[in-house]
Amino acid sequence: MAVDFDLDLTDLIMSGHLIDIRAAKILIVDDDPLIVDVLSVVLKEGEYQNIFSTGDPYQVIPLYKEHRFDLIILDIQMPGMSGIKILQQLQKVVKSSFLPVVVLTAHGDQKIRKQVLGMGAKDFITKPFEHWEILLRIQNALHASLYHKQQVSLKDLLEGEIQKRTKEILETQFEIVHRLAVAGEMRDNETGAHVQRMSHICSLLSRKRGLGSEFSKLMLYASAMHDVGKIGIPDSILLKSKGLSPEEWLVMQQHPNIGARIIGNHSSKLISLAREIALCHHEKWDGSGYPNGISGNQIPVSARIAAISDVFDALTSDRPYKQAWAIEEVVETLQAESGKHFEPVMVELFLENLAEIIEIKDRYIDHEFHLT
Ligand SMILES: [Fe+2]
Ligand SMILES: [Fe+2]
Repeated sequence: MAVDFDLDLTDLIMSGHLIDIRAAKILIVDDDPLIVDVLSVVLKEGEYQNIFSTGDPYQVIPLYKEHRFDLIILDIQMPGMSGIKILQQLQKVVKSSFLPVVVLTAHGDQKIRKQVLGMGAKDFITKPFEHWEILLRIQNALHASLYHKQQVSLKDLLEGEIQKRTKEILETQFEIVHRLAVAGEMRDNETGAHVQRMSHICSLLSRKRGLGSEFSKLMLYASAMHDVGKIGIPDSILLKSKGLSPEEWLVMQQHPNIGARIIGNHSSKLISLAREIALCHHEKWDGSGYPNGISGNQIPVSARIAAISDVFDALTSDRPYKQAWAIEEVVETLQAESGKHFEPVMVELFLENLAEIIEIKDRYIDHEFHLT
């Protein structure tokens, strides 16, 4: 799907993401105060406005952390700590592959030049230097540094925008899925609270089964659509309070297939999970379920979770045709159905977390259904 960004890159670049080179922050590092003075004067002549300096090599890293300089002019030979050591430390502190450093070396220092350029320094200036050379080399290094900074800032902005849009798309999907579940409920004997309880139990069990928080959230919404296929079942069968005839039962057993058709085959994680649950929530571990009679691990884990959560809530709720069962009776039934209707591991997990499941049950009590 094409995403239409409001972001106008040209506007973005014209409105401050192109950084003014004269406003760039430059740090001069040299133990010789005379060199610091000369470089400062030259940079001021070049109309640079933010010049910092230090003669103490130990101050470079703390100063960089505080000011995030656009360029560091670094002397290599200093007492206490060499420029090479500082470069090594800067490599760790600078949060990108671009090291904004121009090195000051003595004339004829071929080996050092090779080493510092290899470490990522962008250029070197040989002492003694000409003013014009300093200004041109610094200007070139700053162009590269600011261009890099601008690219990083644009990348962050675009990533932020993409994340925002992805979130919006996901929220829209959740909303559509929720509305479809609501439509399904309005055709059914079930109450809205059944779907809320069942989907929260599904989400809890997914988390307890170690399927991760993203999957648990998807389960919350996807499982709510398990019975959406009942939209396609005639009222005469769906709303019947007494037992269904064998023919009517065959029609009723079509609701998983109808649900899968309604939800469709979209590749989104949420939609495909919802389809999987709608299609397989009446399959049984021993293969005696419907509509396809699949068994064991052929049944997706989402549907194994949905099956036990759905049955538990149906049994523990009052319905027009029956009273709610006591928890003890339901526990016995789940245990008896372990390996038959339900996956044994699922029954164990369910019973281990029974206290939390009952809490969910008590939180969403049956009420008249509202479109909220
Ligand atoms: Fe169902
Ligand atoms: Fe249900």
